[in-house]
Amino acid sequence: MTASLELVTQIQDLKQKRKAILLSHYYQRPEIQDLADFVGDSLELSRQAAETDAEVIVFCGVHFMAESAAILSPDKLVILPDADAGCPMADMVNATSLKEEKARLGNPVVVSYVNTSAEVKAESDICCTSANVIRVIGSLPRDREILFVPDQNLGRFAERKTGRKMHLWPGFCCIHDQLTVDDVLKAKESHLGALLLVHPECRSDVIDQADYVASTSGMLRYACSSPAKEFIVATEEGLLHQLSRQCPGKAFHTASSGLVCGNMKLTTLEKLVQALETLEPRVSVAPYIRERALLALERMLALA
Ligand code: 13P
Ligand code: SF4
Repeated sequence: MTASLELVTQIQDLKQKRKAILLSHYYQRPEIQDLADFVGDSLELSRQAAETDAEVIVFCGVHFMAESAAILSPDKLVILPDADAGCPMADMVNATSLKEEKARLGNPVVVSYVNTSAEVKAESDICCTSANVIRVIGSLPRDREILFVPDQNLGRFAERKTGRKMHLWPGFCCIHDQLTVDDVLKAKESHLGALLLVHPECRSDVIDQADYVASTSGMLRYACSSPAKEFIVATEEGLLHQLSRQCPGKAFHTASSGLVCGNMKLTTLEKLVQALETLEPRVSVAPYIRERALLALERMLALA
């Protein structure tokens, strides 16, 4: 048996013993995605975390995702295999600075991307993901001002789609934001005729070059159902594994070799074994924060 096959067997045994479910985001390493009970985007993963009857949720993703699981399922043990797997964009806003901005703007409706801490969600009216941002913004009263945190690129995309002007927090995803128009034009030159799929965390000028703009799961659905056979993918490279699995016979190329989120790659088979053996590192949220953060997440999930 190879070393990694041995680890996979160990993980499967431990998973049963611990009554654990393994949830994985599409940006995880291929071997982690292959082992997971469910692979999805941020919205789908939140739903799974809210609905599972497993006793332990092992979150193969980053900290804010595990925290959302802990908010939605407080009676479960939530494990993040590497405690350092954070999201630099989520760290670009904190509860204190958000409270100050809310006061300065005269108490606007606060929409927070799920890529935020529990404390920031607790200061928000409603959450959104890249899959439902248009629906969430469309559900808000027309006579209120909106503060959108923290991803200014996603916020700008939603402004253009909904026609609603918002106050945008100046945050960004350092992976998607570094992609330039020059990068995508070069990729188009190298793969003539391929369709360009772009994640809305990318800058507006990159989005303008897209054939289709969507969240990770939206890209998957589009690529699988499209008659086109070749695609350039402007999001974190982990999605290419799932695209190739779910759409066999089609070709997928990354828009740039720099689209790798180091935090998402911190989960390894070895750390999974360790996490399932020790049931550490755990992620939990203080009850007084959880109660208010839950409201913002539930309002989002109620929109279907
Ligand atoms: P989605 O999978 O929801 O599109 O999220 C993208 C992302 O950057 C998560 O960190
Ligand atoms: Fe955060 Fe971007 Fe990594 Fe997603 S890809 S976890 S938004 S840094």
